[in-house]
Amino acid sequence: MTISHTNASLQELRNTFIAKGISSATQNYIVHGQGAILVDVEGNEFIDFAGGIAVMNVGHSHPKVVKAIKDQADKFTHTCFMVSPYESSVILAEKLCRAVPGDSPKAAMFANSGAEAVENAVKIARYHTQRPAIIAFDNGFHGRTLLGMTLTSKIKPYKYCLGPFAPEVYRMPFANCYRCPFNKEYPGCGVACADHLEYFFINHVAAEQTAAIIIEPIQGEGGFITPPKEYFQKLKAICEKNNVLMIADEIQTGIGRTGHMFAMEYYGVEADLTTTAKSLAAGMPLSAVVGKKEIMDSVHPSGIGGTYGGNPIACEAALAVFDIIESEDLLERAKGLGNELNKTFLSFQEEHEIIGDVRGIGPMIAMELVQDRQTKTPASAETKALVNYCYENGLIVLACGAHGNVLRFLMPLVITDEQLHKGINIINDGLSAIKG
Ligand SMILES: Cc1ncc(COP(=O)(O)O)c(C=O)c1O
Repeated sequence: MTISHTNASLQELRNTFIAKGISSATQNYIVHGQGAILVDVEGNEFIDFAGGIAVMNVGHSHPKVVKAIKDQADKFTHTCFMVSPYESSVILAEKLCRAVPGDSPKAAMFANSGAEAVENAVKIARYHTQRPAIIAFDNGFHGRTLLGMTLTSKIKPYKYCLGPFAPEVYRMPFANCYRCPFNKEYPGCGVACADHLEYFFINHVAAEQTAAIIIEPIQGEGGFITPPKEYFQKLKAICEKNNVLMIADEIQTGIGRTGHMFAMEYYGVEADLTTTAKSLAAGMPLSAVVGKKEIMDSVHPSGIGGTYGGNPIACEAALAVFDIIESEDLLERAKGLGNELNKTFLSFQEEHEIIGDVRGIGPMIAMELVQDRQTKTPASAETKALVNYCYENGLIVLACGAHGNVLRFLMPLVITDEQLHKGINIINDGLSAIKG
């Protein structure tokens, strides 16, 4: 397709023909991407610290991914795995089953989007336990389908006027050490937020009625809220005592984002079911549920599935992603990146009063901006101004959190040191600029 438009003319067309409910963080229309760089229709270049919202861990247009897609497109583009299966899907399932933490034998199923993986994980958990209830968490995000938005916490924009919602979803507080819902302090609290699950089974929904809890290892949209290690271990023990499953939603945290293939490895916990999507296939629509084999196998044939799930082009792209992560040692690179970002942002925190908290695991890291370190009043307008400053200076970066006051970093792990430092300097200048 030849591009004959400018950013402004495309924006005008978009305003006419694309529904308003679909939003974009920027107004530059991209024609080219390479590694951590995006180029728009007018030749403007951006350093990408958003990675298409955690999708491009191996970078834009990685040659191995491009080749895998082209080669597969030359062979066949679709048969439907439920009609005529193919090799890549089976090989990828094996790789995923071996990569998801824990020693139990596992099985996988493929779908297209994160929300669809979440839907399927809940179906499987309900079928296996023969129980209806699902417990989700404050600040959790699980997608935009009916069940996905029901499980999601934040009302505006994700749920407002979009109900009624799916039944049998309950919500409890999350481990939020910076803004503890129980007004306690770690570690003196003894991670009481995990023990709260016992109370929850008494006062909100009976354990015998609960199929699963669904939980993000680090809450993505919710503000990169990162629980202490013991939190998941304690929750899992309570779940096991009550035969309740744990679904780890690793859609944003997975595929190397935290310096581990899956973040639950960091916590030392084996979830019963894990959802993955986003960086799994470097932008091809592919998601998966991976779980303990006896749980995954409980659903009768055709009880789960879908026309496009595990599309052959997407599966080949995902196999290329696995190859790149291994051959380019991206998990080590991610850990190094994480150390550098952590050190840099902590030094920024000493310099800039507005940075209330720096948190995350590896390069899945964020800074929470507050107007006052004592009151912790969210600096939402200032965060917006900082995001805009970065954008105007050639850096794409995203905010998140209930108050939009958390700056989150999801740059491709293949980013060069030069690009990284350039991006970090823009943020530092932006932090000075928003002081006024
Ligand atoms: C943790 C988590 N779960 C589910 C989803 C939904 O994924 P999708 O937008 O592919 O449906 C997201 C997307 O941001 C996510 O971060």
